[in-house]
Order: sequence, then C-alpha cells, then structure tokens
Amino acid sequence: MFRLIHISDLHLGPLPAARIRDLASKRILGYVNWRRNRSRAFGDDVEAALIAAIAAERPDHVVVTGDLVNIALAGEYATASAFLGLLGSGDVVSAIPGNHDAYVPGAARRARKAWATYMTADTGEPTGWPYVRRRGDIAIVGASSAVASGPFMATGTFSEEQEERLAIALDKLGRAGLCRVVLIHHPPVKGATAWHKRLSGASRFRKVIARYGAELILHGHTHQPTRLSLAGPKGNVPVIGVSAATQRPDGEHPAAGFNLFDIEKIDAGFQIWHRLMQVTPGGAFAETRSEEIVSPGP
Ligand SMILES: [Fe+2]
Ligand SMILES: [Fe+2]
Repeated sequence: MFRLIHISDLHLGPLPAARIRDLASKRILGYVNWRRNRSRAFGDDVEAALIAAIAAERPDHVVVTGDLVNIALAGEYATASAFLGLLGSGDVVSAIPGNHDAYVPGAARRARKAWATYMTADTGEPTGWPYVRRRGDIAIVGASSAVASGPFMATGTFSEEQEERLAIALDKLGRAGLCRVVLIHHPPVKGATAWHKRLSGASRFRKVIARYGAELILHGHTHQPTRLSLAGPKGNVPVIGVSAATQRPDGEHPAAGFNLFDIEKIDAGFQIWHRLMQVTPGGAFAETRSEEIVSPGP
C-alpha cells in the first residue's frame, strides 16, 4: 500500500516587510488584500497542526498543488522552502506552482529555482512541464498552470507544449501499468471556477485525459474540497480539490484540510481509499469524508 497526502494553497504568512519599490504592479493589490483578509483567515496555529497531522499519518509521499506564497516577494520563497523542508526532502515531497507563486512576470521561474528539489524530474531535468517522478507503483506527473496574470485576474494556462509532453508521459506510464497521479493548480473541469480564475487551454488538458487517461487528478486554487471528474478512455477519472491548507475553521471558506489516499494495486487496476481530513474548531484534524475509488487502471 502507498500512502499519498495532498495539500494545497498554503498562502504562507507573514509577508516580509515589503519595500514600496517591490509593491509596484499587481503586487500592491495583493498586499492590500492580504493585510485586509488573508492574514486573518490563514493561521500559524493551523500550519503547526497541519504539519503534526501529516506526520502522524506517516505518508510515503506528500504532494503540494501550488499557491505556497501570496505575492511572490523574495522573502516569501524562503518561508515556503522552510515549510517544504518540514514536510521532508525532495524524495518524499513533490510540488507544483500556483498563480500566487507566479504573481508577477518572472516569479514562476524564480519559484521553480527556489523549490527545484521538489519539482525536478527523476531524469534530473530542471526545466519543462510536466515533470515525472516514479515512486513504487505510483507516477507523479506535475504540470504547471502558473502564469502571471493582470490585476483582479487569477487565471492559469495549459500550453500546447505541455499538452504534447503530458500525452507522451501518460501514454508511457500507462503502458508501464503505473498509478498515474496528475497535479495541476487550476481545476481542468469546465465551469469549476469563476471566469476570472479559469484555466485557459483546459480543453487541451481534457483531450489528453480523454485519450490516455489517468488514475487521479489533484488540484488546488478553488480552496474547496471538491470531487469532480473528467472523461477518460475507460470511464471517469476523479478530479479532486482540497481546502486551503492553513484556512482557520471559523472563516467563510471551508476549514483547512488535506486529502489522504491509500493506494493498492489490484488485479484490474488500483483500489484507492480516499479520506478528507479537516481542522476542527478545537484545532485538531479529523476525518470529515471518505470514499473508495476503484480505478480500472491504464
Ligand atoms: Fe489559492
Ligand atoms: Fe490559486
């Protein structure tokens, strides 16, 4: 059995003191927004409880589907690196960036450099998306939808180049009989987000899944613990989101949570036991939902 934990949207604080020069561009809006809302809604106490709850489950691997930071200031990358370090080394933790990690032009490149150890392919390739990492019967395929967008926008992009690379990877990994777990920050399902938060190029992503399939698609961005699906060649592929990982339990958004998957290879594919764990008003994480997913396999 392989135990995989999925977290997302940490929006780690506090923000380092920003110089007025750093706040030019879209960052000024993000800074005001963080001061007004996010610093209240996201908590250090939840962060500590989250790390303890994850450690208690003794996962084989942890995946982080983006939005580690808020407005992509240099000091925020270091905070996020320290957080990732608490989860484990790059052998047992994989990450992809979200739109907040790519908040302004050039930020996405800096995020990949800062968190390279969690985003590097098994082949050692430091560039290009998606990357592929194999752990036992599991293949982690990390795509990136993170691009800088205009003021009041939180869109993502799935490029033609990634479409091609994802198709090649899923075909190859499927033939090898692996449980293919695809990571992407923005949900690739039609209508899953408001227009200003959508994934452009999502139809490219859906086309690849329809043709080659996947066993699990994990995303963040919505801050909602949702279960959607995309059509695959052998039936529906589960598309699973999660609440923001450090969201306080008393806010307007769903309380902080993580997805826990126990994955077992069976004769005709994979049996996946999915549990959603969320923080309670008392501060501890507890199971709030569970389901069995039987995947027909590649
Ligand atoms: Fe987010
Ligand atoms: Fe996001």
